[in-house]
Amino acid sequence: MRLFLDTANIDMIKQGVAWGGIDGVTTNPTIVAKEGISDYESVIKQICDIVPGEVSAEVTSVKKAEMIRQGKKIAKWHENVVVKVPCTPDGFEVTTALVKAGIKVNMTLCFTANQALLAALAGAYFISPFLGRLDDISTNGMDLIYDIREVYDAGGFDTQIIAASIRHPMHVIEAAKAGADVATIPYKVLEQMMKHPLTDAGQAKFMEDWRKVSNT
Ligand code: G3P
Repeated sequence: MRLFLDTANIDMIKQGVAWGGIDGVTTNPTIVAKEGISDYESVIKQICDIVPGEVSAEVTSVKKAEMIRQGKKIAKWHENVVVKVPCTPDGFEVTTALVKAGIKVNMTLCFTANQALLAALAGAYFISPFLGRLDDISTNGMDLIYDIREVYDAGGFDTQIIAASIRHPMHVIEAAKAGADVATIPYKVLEQMMKHPLTDAGQAKFMEDWRKVSNT
């Protein structure tokens, strides 16, 4: 399973790539607003210069024709850009149109296997089921990843599953076991994945003992 960062924060993306585990990025209007970004295009281009893999940028209109127009424009920002479109009735139509135009689409705000099936039939490149938001309403978000994996494998669909709305490190491991192709994670979760108190204590002891026998 690959790891993407779910952020538009340039410093965090640079650090994630430097650590080595991150090869793509997902954004959405909330993430962009959080960073106070007014020029979406220039930030997405900057991100594309940092990460080697796909970078998702979302359409921001609720009108079909405008979503298609935006999607075509966004797709030209960089060869690694994937256009994010919501799993709404209009979104499926927009995805069908964009895919016909040769554009890669990440269908977002997915909460059911039926939405994921329709996204695959529309030719979506990625589907983004939101685990954390299902957990938030007392529904097991991870079951959705298992269901989508089963549906896609049974149908021979190539659409890749991005486990999204990840809240903690166990979501990442569970998503990997469930067969997600990608997990898109907040920076904080990436930090949490690296840390263990026994690693810190063991390293402190190694350094303490080394100082006793070495001048370096
Ligand atoms: O990638 C989707 C993600 O940004 C949603 O996460 O935490 O807002 O549910 P969250």
